[in-house]
Amino acid sequence: MKNLKNKVAVVTGAGSGIGRALARSLADRGCRLALSDVNEAGLVETAEALEGADVKTYSLDVSDRDAIFAHAEEVVKDFGQVNLVINNAGVALSATVREMTDEDFKWVMDIDFWGVAHGTRAFLPHLIASGDGHVVNVSSVFGLIGVPKQSAYNAAKFAVRGFTEALRQEMKLENQPVAVSCVHPGGIRTNIANAARMGKSENAVAQRKGFDKLAMTTPEKAAETIVKGILKNESRILVGPDAWGIDAINRLLGSAYQPLVERFSRKNLYI
Ligand SMILES: NC(=O)c1ccc[n+]([C@@H]2O[C@H](COP(=O)([O-])OP(=O)(O)OC[C@H]3O[C@@H](n4cnc5c(N)ncnc54)[C@H](O)[C@@H]3O)[C@@H](O)[C@H]2O)c1
Repeated sequence: MKNLKNKVAVVTGAGSGIGRALARSLADRGCRLALSDVNEAGLVETAEALEGADVKTYSLDVSDRDAIFAHAEEVVKDFGQVNLVINNAGVALSATVREMTDEDFKWVMDIDFWGVAHGTRAFLPHLIASGDGHVVNVSSVFGLIGVPKQSAYNAAKFAVRGFTEALRQEMKLENQPVAVSCVHPGGIRTNIANAARMGKSENAVAQRKGFDKLAMTTPEKAAETIVKGILKNESRILVGPDAWGIDAINRLLGSAYQPLVERFSRKNLYI
C-alpha cells in the first residue's frame, strides 16, 4: 500500500492513546475510518477531533469473538471495502505469576491476544477481496523480551508476534494481496498504565509513576512511525528509541539479556 488516500482503515482501541493518534494521522492522509472502542466517550472525542474526515464509530469489545466478526461485516456494509486493519486495542496487568488471578490472566489474553487474532481472522477475507490490504497487529517490546510482573502481557504480546509473523509468510506464499506488519512500541505516554490492573501486593501509585518516567514517546510520534512503517511495508515496526535499544540487546545477547532485565527490575519494578 503506497498511498492511503481513500483507503478504508479500521482501528480498534481508537478512543485513547496510540489508537486515537493513528486515527488522526490516517485521516490526515485521506483515509476513510472505521473506529472502534469499548470506551464510547473516548471514541466520540476522537471522532469529534477529526472534523471533515469520513469517519464512523462502532462500540466494540475486542474480547468478544462474535462481536468482532459481526463488526467486520458491518464495516464492509458501511464502506464497501476494507484495506487496512490495525488491531490496536489493549490493556495491561502488573502482577507476578504467583499472585495473579486466573481472571486477570484471562482478561489480558482475551483482549491482547484473542482480540488481535479474531480481528485478523474476521477481516482477512475482506482484505484479500480489496486487492490491496494490510494487517497491522500491535504487540510491544514485551513481545520481544520477558519482564518480571508482565508474564500475562508477555504471553499475549509474544503470541501476537508469532501469529503475525506466521501470517505474513502465509500471505506471501499464497501470493495474497495482503501485507502484514507487527508493531513493537516501547514506552508511549498514553493512558495504558492508569487503566492497568495491578496485583494485590503492587504499589500502584509507584508503578504508574515509574511507567510515566520511562515512557519516552508521544502517541502522535508513535502513530507517525507506525504509518510510515505501513507505507514501507515493514514486517517489524519498532516505535521509539527504547524499542530499538531493546531489539538490539535481544539480537546481540539472545537469552543472556535476562540478567540485565533482572538488574533493572530490582531497582525499578520491585518497588
Ligand atoms: N503505551 C505503551 O507504552 C505501549 C507499549 C507497548 C505496546 N502498547 C500497546 O499499544 C496498544 C494501545 O495502547 P495505548 O498505549 O494507546 O493505551 P490506551 O489505554 O491509551 O488505549 C487503549 C485503548 O484500548 C481500549 N480497549 C481496552 N479494552 C478494550 C476492549 N476489550 N475492546 C476494545 N477496546 C478496548 C481502551 O478503551 C483504550 O481506548 C495496546 O495494544 C498496548 O498494549 C502500548
